[in-house]
Amino acid sequence: MKNPMRVAVTGAAGQISYSLLFRIASGDMLGKDQPVILQLLEITPAMDALRGVVMELEDCAFPLVAGITTSDKPEVAFDKADVALLVGARPRGPGMERKDLLEANAAIFSEQGKALNAVASRDVKVLVVGNPANTNSLIAQRNAPDLNPRNFTAMTRLDHNRALAQLAGKTGASTTDIKKMIIWGNHSATQYPDISQAMVKGDAASGLVPRDWYESDFIPTVQQRGAAIIKARGASSAASAGSSAVDHIRDWVMGTPDGDWVSMAVPSDGSYGIEKGLIYSFPVTCKGGDYSIVQGLEVDDFSRERMQVTEQELREERDGVAHLLP
Ligand code: NAD
Ligand code: LMR
Repeated sequence: MKNPMRVAVTGAAGQISYSLLFRIASGDMLGKDQPVILQLLEITPAMDALRGVVMELEDCAFPLVAGITTSDKPEVAFDKADVALLVGARPRGPGMERKDLLEANAAIFSEQGKALNAVASRDVKVLVVGNPANTNSLIAQRNAPDLNPRNFTAMTRLDHNRALAQLAGKTGASTTDIKKMIIWGNHSATQYPDISQAMVKGDAASGLVPRDWYESDFIPTVQQRGAAIIKARGASSAASAGSSAVDHIRDWVMGTPDGDWVSMAVPSDGSYGIEKGLIYSFPVTCKGGDYSIVQGLEVDDFSRERMQVTEQELREERDGVAHLLP
C-alpha cells in the first residue's frame, strides 16, 4: 500500500467541496491505489456544517481515506500538505463579474499563501479555484517565497471542458474524440477559447464548423458559461467545478495522454510573449508530476489580439492588488 497523500481543501463546507471531497475520497483524483488524508479548512462559523460533511464522508466508508482533520486555522489545515485545493472564497452573484470579488477575496489568499509557505510540503501542488482564481493564485504565490512558484496554478480546466462539450455538441462527436483544445488567459469573460489547433477524430476542427459559429457563438458561450449557470441555477457552478479540479490535479500528478494537452493557468515564463509571472492559462502537457507549456504553436492575428486582451485584464487585476504582493 502506498503512503497516504495529504490533501488540503479550503471552503470544505461549501457547494463545490460537497461534490469534490467525495470524488477525492473515492480515488478519482489521485488514483484507486492512493490513500488520502483530507485536511479540511473552513471559517469558524461554518465548522458545524463542516462537521456534517465529515459525518457523511465517514458514512461512505471509503477504503482510501486514511484520515480526516478539520480546522479553522490555515497553518493546521496545510500542515505537510502534498496538494492544496484553495476553493474557499465568496462566489459572485447575478450581475457581478468575477473580478468584483477581488477585494473581498484577496486577503484570504495572502493569508493562505503565508500559511502554505510555513507548513506545507516543499513540493505542494496548489490549485486555486476561488475567484478571481488567476489573481488569487498570484497573491498566494507571492506570499509563499520559500515554495516553488511554478507550483501555484489556477483552474481553467472547467473552461477547457466546457469548450470540449460545445464543440462535441456542434460536430456530433464525443468529447473524447477531440484533442488539442486551448483556453488562453484569465478564468473570466476575456478568456480566449481557441480551436485553431483542435482536432476532431483526426480532422482539423476549424474545417468542420462555420467560422461565424466559432466567433459569434462558441467563443461567447464558453466565456459566459459561468454566468449562464448562475442565471439558471441561482448559484454558481459547483459539481462541474469540482469535477474539473479533479481533472486538473489528476493530470498534473499522473500525466496527460500522448498526443493531447490540457489547459492550466500557470505562471507565465514569457511563452507566446505573455508577461512573465502572470498566472495565465496555456496549453500544457504533464509528465512525472510536472507540467510544461506547449511550445511552437502558430498564433495568427485573430488569436494574438484575444490573447493580449485577456493578458491585459490580468495585468490590471494584478495592479489592483499590488498592496498584497510582497
Ligand atoms: P460556497 O459559498 O458554497 O462555498 C465557499 C466556502 O468557502 C464557504 O463554506 C465559506 O465558509 C468558505 N470560506 C470562505 N472564506 C474562507 C476562508 N478564508 N477559509 C476557508 N474557507 C472559507 O462557494 P462555492 O460555490 O463552493 O465556490 C467557491 C469559489 O469557487 C467561489 O469563489 C466561486 O466563484 C469559485 N468557482 C471557481 C470556478 C473556476 O472554474 N475557477 C468554478 C466555480 C466556482
Ligand atoms: C464558473 O465559471 O462557473 C465559476 O467561475 C463561477 C462564476 O462566477 O462564473
